[in-house]
Amino acid sequence: MSARPAAKERFFATCAPGLEPLLHEELKALGLAKIERQVSGVYFEGTLQDAWRANLWLRTAVRVLMRLARFEASTGDELYEGVRSIEWSRFLRADGSLAVDAHSSLSELDHTLFIAQRTKDAIVDALRTSAGVRPAVDKESPDLGVYVHVFKNRVSVLVDTSGESLHKRGWRAHQGRAPLAETLAAAVVMLSGWDRRAPLLDPFCGSGTILIEAARLARNLAPGLARESFGFERWLEHDAAAWKRMRESARAQAVAAPKLILRGRDWDPASATGAAENAARAGVADSIQLDVGNALDFEFKRGWNACVVSNLPYGERVADQRAAHDLQRRFGERLRADCGGYSVALLGRRGDTARHLALPEATTIELINGGLECELVRATLPRPAKG
Ligand SMILES: C[S@@+](CC[C@H](N)C(=O)[O-])C[C@H]1O[C@@H](n2cnc3c(N)ncnc32)[C@H](O)[C@@H]1O
Repeated sequence: MSARPAAKERFFATCAPGLEPLLHEELKALGLAKIERQVSGVYFEGTLQDAWRANLWLRTAVRVLMRLARFEASTGDELYEGVRSIEWSRFLRADGSLAVDAHSSLSELDHTLFIAQRTKDAIVDALRTSAGVRPAVDKESPDLGVYVHVFKNRVSVLVDTSGESLHKRGWRAHQGRAPLAETLAAAVVMLSGWDRRAPLLDPFCGSGTILIEAARLARNLAPGLARESFGFERWLEHDAAAWKRMRESARAQAVAAPKLILRGRDWDPASATGAAENAARAGVADSIQLDVGNALDFEFKRGWNACVVSNLPYGERVADQRAAHDLQRRFGERLRADCGGYSVALLGRRGDTARHLALPEATTIELINGGLECELVRATLPRPAKG
């Protein structure tokens, strides 16, 4: 056990724009305190173990940062002094590696490369030993990721508890052509209003991300359980035994979901095979049925109250875009004709997806998918009148 008392820290969980309300809900469900929504993320308060839990359980967060200090700085020297006074030996060995990422707005210190350089110098000087050992810079896989944000001459210094982005769950073997980030796929499933029991159908399933995230959600499988490592595991004071206990406890919270019906289809055989492999690696292959074929011929069973949750194809080139619009129109027709009582959540390019699908009383949520502005079109389709 660590000798240090479990101090409360301030953390910032980051997410894709548009997902802040969902991430807020997730943090609330984890019982975390002082949750405060910002743009592209949510603050919360807790112990370092709470941050482990957040890393393990949050489905929509990209990373969890821990705030170490806040101070005023208008010059490089003030920045240097503020950073140097932080107790870096809690996190990093003198022979470890670090990477610094800097952002600045509305501040006298406005050159991000300079901010990153001065921050790195201050950390290195704080840790350099009399024997001349000093941390090295490693941008690919540092022992410690450091984030410096300067806003109106106020500096916040944060360290990354996550390491690799949390969308990397550890199960993906197959990428497919345009895979949805796991974090966004989980968000789309949650935003669809799916009750974790009804059949869930993805007729354009690609590498299977939506189906896999849905299956893991329904089984209460922590999204981070299959990951090889998290950033905090490389910190100097890491309590490996307590972390192992937390993972074991998470594993024990998984529930069986024998009656789940999750169906996916893609017309590209390699995608369907890849999705099956991904599902197997994610430990949910027995809940997911996949086949190869045209989404326009998908079998929508009547009376199922199912959810259709999908990431629609969109063309990059103009000719492909026309084909994608035509496909969306025809898919919308099928949904209107055959899916009375179903709810749908379909992600597509912002501005025209809802129009082409033409679903009655649809609402949209604006999201960003891999830098592309998208909209999630949601609707509950009316049941046909009994005649
Ligand atoms: C945007 S991608 C879906 C990506 C997926 N969500 C993932 O995470 O990998 C769209 C998929 O639809 C498939 N597709 C395009 N037109 C189709 C059609 N008419 N029927 C079935 N699949 C189709 C493509 O092969 C592609 O895999």
